[in-house]
Amino acid sequence: MCGIPHHAGDGPASYHPWMSDARVSESGFPVKGVYTAADLPPELDSRLGEPGGYPYTRGVYPTMYTARPWTMRQYAGFGTATESNARYHQLLEAGTMGLSVAFDLPTQMGYDSDDAIAHGEVGKVGVAIDSIEDMRLLLAGIPLDRVSTSMTINAPGSVLLLLYQLVAEENGLPGSALNGTIQNDILKEYIARGTYIFPPKPSLRLVADTFAYCRKEVPKWNTISISGYHMAEAGATPAQEIAFTLANGVEYVRAALAAGLAVDDFAPRLSFFFVARTTLLEEVAKFRAARRIWARLMRDDFGAKDPKSMMLRFHTQTAGVQLTAQQPEVNLVRVAIQGLGAVLGGTQSLHTNSFDEAIALPTEKAARLALRTQQVLAYETDLTATVDPFAGSYVVEAMTAELEAAVNGLMDRVFDHGSAVDAIEAGFQKREIEQSAYRFAQQIDAGERVVVGLNRFRIDTEEPYEPLRVDPAIEAAQAERLARLRAGRDPAAVERALAELRTAAEGDGNVLYPMREALRARATVGEVCGTLRQVWGTYRPSDSF
Ligand code: 3HC
Repeated sequence: MCGIPHHAGDGPASYHPWMSDARVSESGFPVKGVYTAADLPPELDSRLGEPGGYPYTRGVYPTMYTARPWTMRQYAGFGTATESNARYHQLLEAGTMGLSVAFDLPTQMGYDSDDAIAHGEVGKVGVAIDSIEDMRLLLAGIPLDRVSTSMTINAPGSVLLLLYQLVAEENGLPGSALNGTIQNDILKEYIARGTYIFPPKPSLRLVADTFAYCRKEVPKWNTISISGYHMAEAGATPAQEIAFTLANGVEYVRAALAAGLAVDDFAPRLSFFFVARTTLLEEVAKFRAARRIWARLMRDDFGAKDPKSMMLRFHTQTAGVQLTAQQPEVNLVRVAIQGLGAVLGGTQSLHTNSFDEAIALPTEKAARLALRTQQVLAYETDLTATVDPFAGSYVVEAMTAELEAAVNGLMDRVFDHGSAVDAIEAGFQKREIEQSAYRFAQQIDAGERVVVGLNRFRIDTEEPYEPLRVDPAIEAAQAERLARLRAGRDPAAVERALAELRTAAEGDGNVLYPMREALRARATVGEVCGTLRQVWGTYRPSDSF
């Protein structure tokens, strides 16, 4: 969630994109000035299918937004559980339809707020959650049987899911009543985001254990959000974003099958997460191509029979990296266009960035404006009147076919290494993304890629913007809460529960069951993850990166 770094220079004064004779798409294929019926791919009807029908090019539901708008799900969280809970109530009152929890780095990395390594990061980029007591505060007053909650947590995703389930249980709600998602996508952490803990093998085991646990205990929970967003934010082109994400998806499916799960027992609860860039036409084509590729993969390569196993359901976030700190109000326009692209592309859930996010954590007003952008798209336009309005469009169908070919070619290059994990270990995805990022930065520096307010149409007098600041005192407050929690629990019960977790981790039992009992006994996130670190070790990137 950061703006494009400031580049000196205005770019060549004479340059205007419409003056260049050949446009190239973000994914690198040529964009024609005029498309005609001759550009439509062959067998268009079978490529499209019906809305809600295989291969889901036109959307995963027959009625899409004509029956129900996408979920307006604004990512939020900072400081203490109490502060974040207040923001969630503000967002629910403002009309948001689903929650999306941001955790601070210590929580994401499986450390407690009073761990030395957490110093300076507690409550900074998200909320600090150390125990069941913090989760109780985070969810206070929220109707967990009526609201779906996404939690952006990866290596300790299962831990936070169990805390959520335990608090729901205290409120009389069984696991079967809960709707939500954990991101739980460890492979993209090795490639682009970095909040990994354990090496790939135990990490994939933990993901498979989570699939099996949720099928039985929390059946409506989306067990993973296989993400391309962060790879896109790191510089991936649309084709790379989809190719590397779906290749990671294939790896998770293979891990679950190897763990003995049947494909239709877990695949319906896989979900995805992509970015929406300002290049709207290519983004719409990207989403449509992704659905078609995943549907074919699941049916033809993995033998899925349940239509829900073939549906690529996804969340979209507008592109944080395309926000500028310069003239931040211009970001309101960018986010509206990006949100429009996500909706035209058939997203199930959407986060629109706040215009001030390139500067700091969004203020309440900026967060409300971001949600209002979605509400204008949903309630003032005619976008919810009909399904997949771009179907049959010369340019979008041509681009969808171009992207499908590019993605399939890139996925083949990933699998030429063996598996997505082998390619990650060889640094393939990371290198490809870094090369794209470098080209992107060069184009901005040269003024070939216009960023309004940054390298063209700049103003010299920027009025100062007062961002939201997180109170550094919360670190001490969290440490005190942890001291009280440890003093007030039964140490023997915690020890026993952590010992059972260790035994399960050393063997092949599903670790979520002993993990749940340890958390119920008020073991902390750091203690649970620390126990698993002792058994599984921590990941060290191979030096080929
Ligand atoms: N016809 C029939 N049924 C419909 C329908 C229609 N038109 N529209 C919706 N429905 C049904 C669905 O079938 C579903 O029912 P089910 O759960 O029983 O199947 C229900 O209504 C809810 O619809 P969706 O599942 O489509 O929508 P959700 O919002 O509940 O779920 C999701 C969307 C993508 C599947 C889910 O995984 C999700 O919410 N993901 C969000 C992920 C997220 O927010 N990530 C944030 C990441 S931020 C980040 O990474 C950090 C920073 O670095 C960016």
